[in-house]
Amino acid sequence: MNPVRYEAISTLPRHWCGDDAFETRCLEAMSLLAPEMERFLIAAVRTGLTCPGAGPVAAAGASFVLEEAAHSQAHHRFNRRLEAQGIDVEASLAAVRRLSRHARRLLPAGAQLAISAACEHLSAILSLAYLRSPVRARIRSPEVERLFATHAQDEIGHRELVFDLMLATGGGGWVSRVFALTTVSLVAVVHAARLVGALMSAEPEASSYRVWRQRSAGLFRLGRWASAPTVMLQWLMYLRPGFHPARLPDR
Ligand SMILES: [Fe+2]
Ligand SMILES: [Fe+2]
Repeated sequence: MNPVRYEAISTLPRHWCGDDAFETRCLEAMSLLAPEMERFLIAAVRTGLTCPGAGPVAAAGASFVLEEAAHSQAHHRFNRRLEAQGIDVEASLAAVRRLSRHARRLLPAGAQLAISAACEHLSAILSLAYLRSPVRARIRSPEVERLFATHAQDEIGHRELVFDLMLATGGGGWVSRVFALTTVSLVAVVHAARLVGALMSAEPEASSYRVWRQRSAGLFRLGRWASAPTVMLQWLMYLRPGFHPARLPDR
């Protein structure tokens, strides 16, 4: 995965997605959250690979770790533009980092893999929506669009790999899948919304009312990026007894 060149980043307009503050901030929030999630996933998969039964997926697991590390590096570089705008990125991410640290410290390896498989399912759903959406052409820079598109393509493949590792190490029961996907989805929605709010508040002349108004109007425009019924259907598929990503029609 090729990081976006510094020259391409430095010449980006502030609202690089269709001149729209809300859509730009949503994509920037995704870019900020990606390395945080990937740090958790890399640690969980590395631990999972040391568990009995992981042998058959060892090689795929090792390339997964390299791929996620490359994503993190590319997004870290891109995210620096937010610091240049005076945004306190460390403070914005403090809550999600704390949560991830606690989960790594307190949860057993099997539970961390269940959460990772659910994260990858969610990532694959959003990635598919992104790749199918014609509005991604609104991203002003081809290099930035390529960053998100390449990441999305890789994410679709991760879903099956992490799911197989979870099964190979004795996990993947229905109850744990339901619990993990529900928890991960709630946490993702809460933290993404909070982060978008924090980024919107950093806009020049932002006021609580203006942020609220832009956020409310922007939520309707998100329908252009993802069809809610399709996202919901794919989300629910994970909860079907006997689910496996290899049997999904969108592979
Ligand atoms: Fe990734
Ligand atoms: Fe991934």
